[in-house]
Amino acid sequence: MSEPTKNSKLVAWVHETATLCKPAKIHWCDGSDAEYNALCQLMVKGGTFTPLNEKLRPGCFLARSHASDVARVEDRTYISCKNKEDAGPTNNWADPVAMKETMKGLFAGSMEGRTMYVIPFSMGPLDSPIAKIGIEITDSPYVVVNMRIMTRMGQAVLDKLGAAGTFIPCLHSVGAPLKPGQKDDFWPCQPDPAKKYIVHFQDEPAIWSYGSGYGGNALLGKKCLALRVASVVARKEGWMAEHMVILALTSPAGKKHYVCAAFPSACGKTNLAMMQPSLPGWSVRCLGDDIAWIRVGEDGRLYAMNPESGFFGVAPGTSDQSNPNAMKTITRNTIFTNVALTPEGDIWWEDMGVPAPAKAIDWEGKEWTPDCGRKAAHANARFTAPALQCPVIDPEWESAKGVPISAFLFGGRRPSTIPLVNEAFSWEHGVFMGSSTGSETTAAALGKAGVLRRDPFAMLPFCGYNMGDYFTHWLSMAGRTDRSKLPKVFFVNWFRKSPEGKWLWPGYGENSRVLKWICERVEGTAKAVKTPIGNLPAEDGLDVSGLKISKDEIKALLSVDAEGWKNEAVDIAGYYEKLGDRLPKALKQELEGLKSRLNA
Ligand code: GTP
Ligand code: SPV
Ligand code: MN
Repeated sequence: MSEPTKNSKLVAWVHETATLCKPAKIHWCDGSDAEYNALCQLMVKGGTFTPLNEKLRPGCFLARSHASDVARVEDRTYISCKNKEDAGPTNNWADPVAMKETMKGLFAGSMEGRTMYVIPFSMGPLDSPIAKIGIEITDSPYVVVNMRIMTRMGQAVLDKLGAAGTFIPCLHSVGAPLKPGQKDDFWPCQPDPAKKYIVHFQDEPAIWSYGSGYGGNALLGKKCLALRVASVVARKEGWMAEHMVILALTSPAGKKHYVCAAFPSACGKTNLAMMQPSLPGWSVRCLGDDIAWIRVGEDGRLYAMNPESGFFGVAPGTSDQSNPNAMKTITRNTIFTNVALTPEGDIWWEDMGVPAPAKAIDWEGKEWTPDCGRKAAHANARFTAPALQCPVIDPEWESAKGVPISAFLFGGRRPSTIPLVNEAFSWEHGVFMGSSTGSETTAAALGKAGVLRRDPFAMLPFCGYNMGDYFTHWLSMAGRTDRSKLPKVFFVNWFRKSPEGKWLWPGYGENSRVLKWICERVEGTAKAVKTPIGNLPAEDGLDVSGLKISKDEIKALLSVDAEGWKNEAVDIAGYYEKLGDRLPKALKQELEGLKSRLNA
């Protein structure tokens, strides 16, 4: 077969990979509708996809993964670079030479009996000078159709690449070769967790992922390329690759501010990114719900661009109450993974805001009834939907240079101590806040949920190099532009609980009240009080008009719990200790400053 590209490096890599993996066929993806539809039908035939009711969910499919393959596998994710210190204490390091041998051994013959798909993709709009081209080779048609939604994919990317362009090679196999005549599984993968490997060869750079077909393990443009690899490239080139939503907030007076927010996995990014504000006259527009690439623009401000073109969002908890715009986004052309199937051929999950069906097929394909004692959807069940379908997508979302950022938000699930909103005193104090971000763990990664873990900048699983160097890189942004042009930094916490364990703050659309205060702080109009931990809204600073919330509750949300903060400082100090000698001095000083203010 003749190749649809004259890029000799690419052609050579594809041949080399075919020789190693021994697929039955090679398919170069053109990104067309016809190709997408054909692959969906192929998966319907093979049992991977169940078509949903055309009237209720046109163009939608349900996939059920293998029960062992439901989330990112952080302990099987590796940063492979020459010096172990460059991966740092927060990453699993592997020697690149030895790891390449291990991976070659695993990939040898791994695609036997399968089609090898070559997916040319762009992270970022094709016309953007800061977009990056990747080529994913995979033996999973599920990956191909998801990549078509999540990235700009197909022939147009090869055309841009041209004969001499460079790309990041991303090799993926589910690790389940098929013997002649062997029946395929509905979700082929390596069920043994010890045989899954998600490896980033940072010195090349190249990505090799083996054994999993799920989410960030397999859609290699997302966490692997756009965060772990891009974070390394960004540091070299003086920009930032962040786990952040990008949204636009417009006031009743018509003032528009772009805001980026970093929350750990399953802590509310998708919800915030397309929120319906409860405050009259305010509007939110969405530019991205997971990843932001950020650069200093010609005017000295920081500009953010979403490298993705779709949402891979958490399904459970998504409802017309919590996220009506997500519900509208997923009415058509959406792939659902690990949700429940109703007798009508529609989907259902816990906290969808509609009554549970009397019976359903659960995410494992088993019969389910509301009283059976099991969840119908997996806690990390997800939808894959085109960003363009979001009813509040911002007109600038595909802007080649990105949009200028007024504020950075950090946050996580913190049931105690951390107030609803807190403004940093300075860029350095803001970087300190980002570095001390922590959250109760969630279902987005395998492991125990609900324990506090530090997740600096929400990048713990995604920073592709030494965390101390990453903090230094954040601090260095102040030297790349005029300080007055840097975004203001805030810490938010929607997840504070009462002693009885109830949410103190209603969250979701009501978070617009906090966004309003933030915008007014940016403009210099909102009232704040200086406290030892940062600037908090003054007593009447936060607009709670029309909200059923008591004065005591507001006080609990917005006061400084001095004892709690002293413990917090001790915990941060312990965490910093673990990061070793690459932790920047400026952050130790920030911690000392916090301690002395708390003790004053
Ligand atoms: P990733 O895609 O894993 O990066 O996650 P995400 O940060 O986009 O998380 P998402 O917006 O999907 O939210 C995950 C969970 O948090 C859902 O169960 C939501 O219902 C819940 N959540 C989101 N916003 C709020 C909020 O303001 N308050 C409360 N209490 N829960 C929220
Ligand atoms: C996350 O875990 O932060 C996600 C889902 O956005 S995944 O793409 O699987 O990493
Ligand atoms: Mn994420």
